[in-house]
Amino acid sequence: MYNLVVDNIYLFRTVPYIKFGIGATDEIGYDVEKLKVSKVLIVTDKFINEKTSLPSRVKQSIEERGIKAEIWDGVEPEPSYSSVKEGIKFAKDKGYEAFIGLGGGSSIDTAKAINLFTTYPADVYDYIGPPIGKGMKIPGPVKPLIAIPTTAGTGSEVSPVFVISLPEIKSKVGISADELRPTQVILDPLNTISMPPNVTASTGIDALMHAIEAYTAKPYYTRLKPKTPLERPVYMGSNPTTDTLAEKAIELIGKYLRRAFVNGYDLEARCNMLLAANIAGIAFTNAGVHVPHAMSFPIGYRKHLPHGVAVGVCGPSFLDFAVPALPEKHARIAQLLGEKIDGLSIFEAGLKASEALIKLLKDLNLPNGISAVGFSEKDIPELVEDTLKQQRLLAQSPRPISKQDLEQIFLKSLRYEV
Ligand SMILES: [Fe+2]
Repeated sequence: MYNLVVDNIYLFRTVPYIKFGIGATDEIGYDVEKLKVSKVLIVTDKFINEKTSLPSRVKQSIEERGIKAEIWDGVEPEPSYSSVKEGIKFAKDKGYEAFIGLGGGSSIDTAKAINLFTTYPADVYDYIGPPIGKGMKIPGPVKPLIAIPTTAGTGSEVSPVFVISLPEIKSKVGISADELRPTQVILDPLNTISMPPNVTASTGIDALMHAIEAYTAKPYYTRLKPKTPLERPVYMGSNPTTDTLAEKAIELIGKYLRRAFVNGYDLEARCNMLLAANIAGIAFTNAGVHVPHAMSFPIGYRKHLPHGVAVGVCGPSFLDFAVPALPEKHARIAQLLGEKIDGLSIFEAGLKASEALIKLLKDLNLPNGISAVGFSEKDIPELVEDTLKQQRLLAQSPRPISKQDLEQIFLKSLRYEV
């Protein structure tokens, strides 16, 4: 029998129910009623709860349908395990039958973690993948979770992962399993209007990097064939379905992120950014993200940077490193971000992708390289060591990546020529 060593199969999975539109949040009572639950917990942060009417409007809309709804607003930005534990303590034994993650990626991620650890109590290291944790499989389905993002970036609303900080290992880690994917998503551009420009910028760059990394992830047909279908990884590698989504997301972000940053009330820009972030999320949660995200974890953790800033500062130097693996795709990224590539060789055109990203970071007032956020050459060996711990992500790199390669990429990311 002809026995292929590489896998020639990919799966495409996402949230079964996504509602998009201006004012879609007003229908939350109807959406919760369909779940046939009697008590839900709305997980959000203090800023959203105290400065906006959104959580109370969501609560009211649910209660009008005769369903109990409570709010927990203890979500931390870039949540640590200790803040997640507070949420678990709050929710434990209260009989919530569904959860609503309302806010940025931190709120949606914390809602996923509370859902998991109240359904299947365990030590956090049990579910973290090796070499850091035991990589235990989640025993079964968790409770329904509705995600209502108020930023346009993380893709957490469609992802099977939550990310938490672990001070004891000085890094962030992701826990990933299909069961963790929200069951419903409500995308309402009005919920993103109040995002300040710096948050619009960092979350928008996160979305762009999701699309770029999904697009350039090692193709699915270069993955080794698993012994059983069950052993296929959550991140399958780039494929024709995710490529189509990633290209559209890159194009929309290239067109609308600057506009949303400059004028938060530009509703057309907000609509397109929310859509772009969501489809980039659908792409990366199937294809995977890789090196810039792996590099961002030690950087973001050490300097308490917003996730998108940490990912963005590593982007250009990695893109240049990866051009030889996928020059056509890099050329296409450059083109979608508005670069002229006519008359250039495919390799020269590919190198324009990093130039386009550097220009965008500059226009969004984001730091120029890791030196601008306080790192110097002497920090690089430690950053490399910690990045190497993210094997789950590095495995998706389009070009095999060694310790020496990472040192060079970090070195080049200290400061970019603009
Ligand atoms: Fe991200």
